[in-house]
Amino acid sequence: MRIDIVTLFPEMFAGPFDASIVARARASGAVEVALHDPRAYTTDRHHVVDDYAYGGGPGMVMKPEPLFDCVDAVQAMDQPPGRVVLLTPQGRMLTHAVVRELAAEPRLVVICGHYEGVDERVRSALADDEISIGDYVLSGGEPAAIVLVDAAVRHQPGVLGSQASLEEESHAQGLLEYPQYTRPAEYRGLAVPEVLLSGDHAAVARWRRRQSIERTAARRPDLLARAALTAAERWLLAAAAGASREVSLAEVTVTTPDLERSVMFYAAILGDAGDRLSADRHEFRLQPLVLAIIRSKPERPPAVEADADDERMTFAVDDARAAQVRVRAAGALWVERRVHRRAGARSFFARDPDGNVLCFAEEEPP
Ligand code: ADE
Repeated sequence: MRIDIVTLFPEMFAGPFDASIVARARASGAVEVALHDPRAYTTDRHHVVDDYAYGGGPGMVMKPEPLFDCVDAVQAMDQPPGRVVLLTPQGRMLTHAVVRELAAEPRLVVICGHYEGVDERVRSALADDEISIGDYVLSGGEPAAIVLVDAAVRHQPGVLGSQASLEEESHAQGLLEYPQYTRPAEYRGLAVPEVLLSGDHAAVARWRRRQSIERTAARRPDLLARAALTAAERWLLAAAAGASREVSLAEVTVTTPDLERSVMFYAAILGDAGDRLSADRHEFRLQPLVLAIIRSKPERPPAVEADADDERMTFAVDDARAAQVRVRAAGALWVERRVHRRAGARSFFARDPDGNVLCFAEEEPP
């Protein structure tokens, strides 16, 4: 890939392009970077590159002629002509997807704006694309050009040690990267998570995936909508987000003709006595939810097997098998014989003593 940078300050690129991965990529020929000063394309005695704005106003505007002449000369230096990118806070945001798109070009001509802006004709008739690196104003496009080159160089074949590093990075999968650790296993009392020392590759992969998702949810929830998540992962996120949602389920109601029997059943499976609020209402406060047991007239469906189509209450449990034993012992009307994997979560169905359908599901993703 060839990148031509049009800049009034070529000296700003000396440090960043002469170190680390960009320097290696240039040395290996994976990327060729050339700097061009539009001042060299001025024809007046004072090499003027800026002028006052028509209509008045503060600050100077970059003149069109040096930029058009410089870009024309640069395009003529090599084939094919490059895509002309103007760096400006008004451009489209440089995201992972945009970096990939630009990095796939055989050639880019990058214009660094300066002063209060560039003549609008540069935007409309010279640039093919306008890029911003963030919603803030830099003194010039040079730091943005350094960012763009660094990000694009990483995508050139052979530049990174392994293609896997590129695929595992933050944003590559639409998610932030998982936490990384190296030796020592404990430092200043801070231990590396056990699972990373276990040698269990599948467990490590599961842990990393979960960390990536939880991190993205906490720091960049805007990214999640487009991330490729499984149904089970979305379920996990919804469960985790429950406590911080603006609107969350506040109460689940169970009606029963036999309040005492029902309260005993739920007290046994929840390990909590709950509170009697009135003769006909008993509550279990399961933050952030209240489970209310309310006395009703006696009329109930027959006890038959329950399935995934039934309206039901789902309880999150750590261990589905242990929960199954407990639910049976509590006096459930019916308990599914086996624990099944449904939507990626191990779960089983049961009916409470009144025939209401319950589902108990493990919170762990597959
Ligand atoms: N020039 C000035 N501010 C900029 C920004 N945020 N991105 C790209 N170029 C710029």
